[in-house]
Amino acid sequence: MKIGVIGAGTMGSGIAQAFAQTDGYSVVLCDITQDFADGGKAKIAKNLERSVKKGKMDQAAADAILNNIETGLRDISADCDLIVEAVLEKMAIKHELFGALDQICKPECIFATNTSSLSITEMGAGIGREIIGMHFFNPAPVMKLVEVIAGYNTSKALVEKIMEIAKAIGKVPVQVEEGAGFVVNRILIPMINEAIGVYAAGTASAEAIDTAMKLGSNHPMGPLALGDLIGLDIVLAIMEVLQSETGLDKYAPEPLLRKMVRGGALGMKTGKGFYDYSR
Ligand code: 3HC
Repeated sequence: MKIGVIGAGTMGSGIAQAFAQTDGYSVVLCDITQDFADGGKAKIAKNLERSVKKGKMDQAAADAILNNIETGLRDISADCDLIVEAVLEKMAIKHELFGALDQICKPECIFATNTSSLSITEMGAGIGREIIGMHFFNPAPVMKLVEVIAGYNTSKALVEKIMEIAKAIGKVPVQVEEGAGFVVNRILIPMINEAIGVYAAGTASAEAIDTAMKLGSNHPMGPLALGDLIGLDIVLAIMEVLQSETGLDKYAPEPLLRKMVRGGALGMKTGKGFYDYSR
């Protein structure tokens, strides 16, 4: 099965790796410039290099995965069987993308979105085929969960097909109806926002908050470090969707979160968030 992953950022490159390392799948990784697409593949190469160094994989297997990924602009996805979109979390951009792909992709190609919280139904409006949510978690090659999200017009048959594909690449899918933030982000992201509020209030240092949540709640990483991993721009975008979709002020983004995003401190991807990643 040929998979087109559109968007070669953190999530897109992770999703591309998850497919490319499974027998029977080949990947085209696309972005708006060849450089961006190649940059996504370079991130995968770095991950694989780490696995080789750790002795978890031999060099031949790493090379085979990389050779299984072609990069380019979205036009090269025309003969794909499944598209997984992982571009910017902006409805207008995603909607335009699916409209353009509808013109170039073969009719039987399935359209899936990795959106973290936007409406699948709205994204599919006016597009000539069904759209489904296939939501991976960061880091996508490692995290087991895939939320399979049905929009208002998504058929049961398509839900089942995507559940099967998720299982085939070693993931555990859960079926979710469309709703603000779906399941995980509806619960997880307000917790990160709350941690930012605790930090902004001066109640504890970033390290103390993260240690407290790791050891006091048995989380694998603290909420501020997790915000840095996800990307604080993504955390902000999800809070804004939760607030606007529900109309509830309990989802108001913390002012410090907004300020950091405006200041370009987005977490690991910019080298600075609640922690410094520049070295
Ligand atoms: N990319 C790829 N692989 C990675 C990685 C990355 N960024 N970070 C770690 N890994 C791999 C490691 O290579 C290692 O693989 P191995 O077992 O084959 O050697 C494995 O993950 C474990 O890594 P480490 O031993 O270095 O470190 P940890 O045991 O501390 O695990 C972690 C790291 C998996 C990131 C763990 O801390 C964790 O699970 N954190 C929580 C992550 C989480 O909650 N993600 C969900 C975010 S919400 C989301 O993504 C939704 C979106 O819409 C916003």
